[in-house]
Amino acid sequence: MTSPIAHFNGELLPLDEIRVSPLDRGFIFGDGVYEVIPAYGGRLLRAREHFSRLQRSMDEIRLANPHTVEGWIHEVDRLLAHHPGNQAVYIQVTRGVPPKRDHVIPKGLAPTVFMMATPLSTPSPEMVEKGVACVTAKDFRWEKCHIKSTSLLGNVLARQVSADAGATETILFRDGFLTEAAASNVFVVKGGKVAAAPQDNHILLGITYELLTELAREGRLDFAIRPIPEAEVRAADEIWLSSSTKEVLAVTTLDGKPVGAGVPGPVFRRMHALFQEYKAKLAAAAAVAG
Ligand SMILES: Cc1ncc(COP(=O)(O)O)c(C=O)c1O
Repeated sequence: MTSPIAHFNGELLPLDEIRVSPLDRGFIFGDGVYEVIPAYGGRLLRAREHFSRLQRSMDEIRLANPHTVEGWIHEVDRLLAHHPGNQAVYIQVTRGVPPKRDHVIPKGLAPTVFMMATPLSTPSPEMVEKGVACVTAKDFRWEKCHIKSTSLLGNVLARQVSADAGATETILFRDGFLTEAAASNVFVVKGGKVAAAPQDNHILLGITYELLTELAREGRLDFAIRPIPEAEVRAADEIWLSSSTKEVLAVTTLDGKPVGAGVPGPVFRRMHALFQEYKAKLAAAAAVAG
């Protein structure tokens, strides 16, 4: 099989020909940030929001952005020309390759930019219909979860808790309150009212979370952003996961117990429909633009 085309520091190359220095701070320290952007028929979903979040992550780690938003979109378009159909675009920027290993942030280093596109795999119709199983764990990650950092060991270990249990995600609690899941945001519904955790340093502010917030407003759902105690999650009628690749997905068992009626609930169905309508509009606009 031929290796797919990927982007490395401005060049388009077969993925298996890309070589990264072992001194790259991304490799040595996990000193970098990333984004994952879904593309439907060559059109990025919420490109500007993703690139603003990339900018916020870079500002937080004091890394100069090598591209403007237009520059990024141009580079992604060049890559997507080699990848027709629906894709997940992965973008990573690390602090680059210093002459030696030293924790102190070196000055004047050129960042390393890597991008690849892989076929987008959204939840199967069966997952949407039946919902998925999740387990819970203590949120043992650091205090800067709002940075979309490539240092993902905390998230990797958290996700493995659910992988070991044969579940889809690990929902995390910090000091008795819901934060998020290992690679998704979490919503709860009780008595028809939807709630999401505060947009602070304990969660990654998902682009899908923000989109669901907008769709909830437009669809006139009762929606609040506020601290959510663990007990409320465990007593919820509905729990949803959101992410760029999961879209919005119902959680129907938590730690082996049914969530609400144990099937995706009515508010989920409404939100899922709103999300699919939003995507269909995007696809139609892409088709008109050619
Ligand atoms: C920890 C974490 N929270 C939330 C999300 C959801 O973010 P988005 O909707 O931008 O994909 C992700 C996505 O991978 C994530 O890794």
